[in-house]
Amino acid sequence: MQTITANGARIPAIGLGVMTLKEEICVKAVDAALRMGYRHIDTAQMYGNEREVGEGLRASRVPREEVFVTTKVWHDRLKVGDFERSVDDSLGRLKLSNVDLLLIHWPNKDVPLKETIDVLCKTKREGKTRHVGVANFTVGLIEEAAKLATEPLVTNQIEVHPFIDRSKVIAASRRHGLAITAYCPIARGAAPGDAVLARIGAAHGKTPAQVSLRYLVQQGIVPIPRSADPKHLADNLAVFDFSLSEAELAEIARLASANKRIVSPPHAPQWDG
Ligand SMILES: NC(=O)c1ccc[n+]([C@@H]2O[C@H](COP(=O)([O-])OP(=O)(O)OC[C@H]3O[C@@H](n4cnc5c(N)ncnc54)[C@H](OP(=O)(O)O)[C@@H]3O)[C@@H](O)[C@H]2O)c1
Repeated sequence: MQTITANGARIPAIGLGVMTLKEEICVKAVDAALRMGYRHIDTAQMYGNEREVGEGLRASRVPREEVFVTTKVWHDRLKVGDFERSVDDSLGRLKLSNVDLLLIHWPNKDVPLKETIDVLCKTKREGKTRHVGVANFTVGLIEEAAKLATEPLVTNQIEVHPFIDRSKVIAASRRHGLAITAYCPIARGAAPGDAVLARIGAAHGKTPAQVSLRYLVQQGIVPIPRSADPKHLADNLAVFDFSLSEAELAEIARLASANKRIVSPPHAPQWDG
């Protein structure tokens, strides 16, 4: 598995997203993914499946230290005490002594950013996570967070796929050494149905979903596609054996528009961007 290096973290270049995967479906997806070579699993307190992620991890028999596990703290748990309880609860459900990456899932304007960044960094110093980062942070929030953080922030997890232009927030995150983790990397089913991605894929013997993932991987972005289907799991991993040309990358870039968001913020829209 290739890795992306960012502010001291080595992040496997593709991961499995598990949002909405529940109970046995989640256990089986995590187990199958790890057995076929995935080494990066993305869960969250809010997904309600950390217990199943831990079970899948143990069922796979892949050694714990080989797997990069991310979890997140939801926006209503960002005050210091709530945050600490959320992390302890997550570790308890996962049955792990630490995670590899802990993220603020969404910012919350009602809690001072300093309070949350301070407790996030303290969680790292306590050994409950190897690395810390953010998700859904705008250009302004990245600038603020980078100033406040006393531990390196290693990623900004944001919505990225061929149909959206995130160049400003990507540039701001990278200016501070953060990797970009792409959620909805196949646009929740829009990529598989896209004619341009299908035509480009046909030229490489690949599916449109694989082209969507390759488009991100080739830019050094870490996609975390979700699937519970063994064929899709395998397809999504098989994106390191072909390259898109400069002309193909440019053609895919032209599919993007500024506001083609799939995921809306769960609260105050003024914090989106
Ligand atoms: N930080 C945040 O705020 C945030 C927000 C949203 C998501 N996320 C994370 O990002 C992950 C991925 O995003 P997402 O789940 O929203 O969207 P996604 O990965 O873009 O799309 C998932 C959908 O695509 C299908 N699919 C997967 N691989 C496919 C393939 N090769 N060909 C055709 N269809 C395929 C899946 O169905 P099958 O099961 O049938 O394959 C599923 O319906 C989440 O699971 C979560 O971990 C984070």
